[in-house]
This record gives sequence, structure tokens and C-alpha cells, in this order.
Amino acid sequence: MSLEPVPATEINIQRAAAYLAAGQLVAFPTETVYGLGADARSDHAVAAIFKAKGRPSFNPLIVHVADIEAAATYAVLNSVAAELAAEFWPGSLTMILDQRPDSGLSELVTAGLPSVAIRIPIHPVARALLCAADLPIAAPSANRSGHVSATTAAHVAADFNTDFAPTLAMILDDGPCRLGLESTIIDVRGGSPRLLRPGAVTLEALQKTLARDIPDGTAQGETARSSAPRTSPGQLESHYAPSKPVFLNVTEPLQSHALLAFGEPPKGFTGEIVNLSRNRDLAEASANLFAALRALDRSAAASIAVMPIPAEGLGRAINDRLKRTAAPRG
Ligand code: TXA
Ligand code: MG
Repeated sequence: MSLEPVPATEINIQRAAAYLAAGQLVAFPTETVYGLGADARSDHAVAAIFKAKGRPSFNPLIVHVADIEAAATYAVLNSVAAELAAEFWPGSLTMILDQRPDSGLSELVTAGLPSVAIRIPIHPVARALLCAADLPIAAPSANRSGHVSATTAAHVAADFNTDFAPTLAMILDDGPCRLGLESTIIDVRGGSPRLLRPGAVTLEALQKTLARDIPDGTAQGETARSSAPRTSPGQLESHYAPSKPVFLNVTEPLQSHALLAFGEPPKGFTGEIVNLSRNRDLAEASANLFAALRALDRSAAASIAVMPIPAEGLGRAINDRLKRTAAPRG
């Protein structure tokens, strides 16, 4: 049985907050993607997230808080963190920080790591929920582990039914997410920032704010070139995976392909097309990406071909996600 999303009215937000306080799960919109939230201090509630998602327990979660004061009660904000917070919080930046020993967070949230991922979302429903619940909300993207992230309440409902997630108490619906790509993750510990996941905040914007180069610690960056262990388990290669094969940077799609287009599709192609952005606008393409992958996965074509997308600005995050959809499944 699937759970019907409810509109994110004030009353429903209050009900959702009460569910969170009682240790249950609530799915809610953020500006990036929908989150599957639980009280980050409760082992029992956080364990329910891992169970509902089918997520490996070594993959830690992001803790969402209402403001910088709350962030500082769970983590140490060094000077780099303070600079980035001033520019990008609230918003779609997640920082990996040193966790305070007395944080009170469940060890499951951080998978036992001494660090913690913190984000202050800007979406009004997420903020209202954080204020009403008055607790730190652990929230991964609201999709089953390995699936495409959810950018609408309907995507959440499609991924979770009450058999899988008996503790999912409510799905708050506030329409499609504005940005459509997950937050950017940057590790700022030790004062030398490293990009762990490209996302809605561009590397260029981060570098401009800090007035320095930020090394790319992502799958395309250093971990691809070295055998160093991955510091963010979310750098698992296959992820965001539709159920059919995906081919990248295709300029001459076969008629048997379904095409994920960016800009003008090749002349003569008569197969099914979903266009990320006809005007080659990367923000529009980001917002459409996950819904497009879900739609193509439902198409009759046996495989998906993706047109080339420039690897700059938001294109970096789009290519990162696409690369994982195409990675060998393990
Ligand atoms: O936009 C977003 O970030 C969404 C919304 C709901 O906020 N959340 C999201 O969560 O994308 P999730 O769980 O799908 O991705 C969180 C990523 C994972 O790759 C995880 O490995 C990484 O954050 N992460 C969490 N804590 C970490 C830590 N202490 N050190 C390194 N990576 C961490
Ligand atoms: Mg996710």
C-alpha cells in the first residue's frame, strides 16, 4: 500500500513535527530534493531510515538544522566553515565538520565517524518543520537506496510503500523541488576544504567565496586517480540508477534508444525524447534531471542514451549523477 502525500499546510507541518518527535519518519520537501527525515538524536528513529531506504549502515546521513546556532551545538565551525556559512546558509551547501563530543546525535547518523554533515535548508516547508519540531533532522534523499532521488512527493510515494516503510508516517507535498540536485558537500575540517560531492552550489561559487582553489575529492577527481579509500561513502560508484543501461555523451543515438537530450536533439532521431533543456540552460536541466531519468526508465526503449552536457558550473553535478547512473551495478 502506498502512502498519499498531503499538502504542506501549517497544520500538517505541526502533525509532521509531532511524528518526528515521536520517533517516526516524515518525508518533506527541500530546495534540492525531498528528504526522508527522522530525529537525529534517536537511534531507533535513525535506524528506521536505514531500514526504509535499504541503505547500508556505513553510509552516514546529513543532519539538517534551523540556524547556525543550532549547527554550532552539534559541530565545530572553524573559520572556513564560518565564511561559507555566511555566504551559503541557509541553502544547498552541506559541510562536513568535526562533531562535538557532547553533540547528542545518534552514532548511526554519522556511521560512527568523528565528523558530521550539517546543512541548513532554505525551503520554507523544511524550515517550518525544523522550527516546529525543534530537533535536528537526519535526512537522506527520500528514495530507496541506489534509486534516482525524489524531486516530487509522487516520486517519494512511488519508492516507499507501507510494507517497506511502516514507520513512514507522512509525506509533505509542496510541489517539485526548485533545484532538483542534491546539496554540494564540502569537507572543511582542518581548514583545507575539499569537494566531496558536486551539487546545487557550484565549485566556482565556492572558490570565489573562499578566494582559493578547492581540490575535487569526488569520483571524477582524486579518488578516481588514486586507490585512496573514499571518505564519503556516497561516492559509491553506481547510484541514481534507473533499471536499464545508460550510455553517456552520445551524439548519434540509435533508434532503439530513448534519448535524454540537452539542446537540439540530432536530426532524424525518431525515438522517445525527454529534453533536459532545449535552451541548454544548466539550471533548468538540473531541475529536470531526476524526473527525466524516472520517465525514461518507464519508456519502452531498452536503453537510455544521454547527449553531452558541459562539465562546468551545475554541469559538473549533472555529469557526476549521470556518470553514476551509467556505472556498472555492483
Ligand atoms: O540535498 C541534499 O543533500 C539532500 C536533502 C534531503 O538535504 N540529502 C541528501 O542526502 O542528498 P543523502 O543521504 O542522499 O546524501 C548524503 C551524502 C552521502 O553521500 C553521505 O555519504 C555523505 O552525505 N555524508 C554524510 N555524512 C558524512 C560524513 N560525516 N563524512 C562524509 N560524507 C558524509
Ligand atoms: Mg541520496
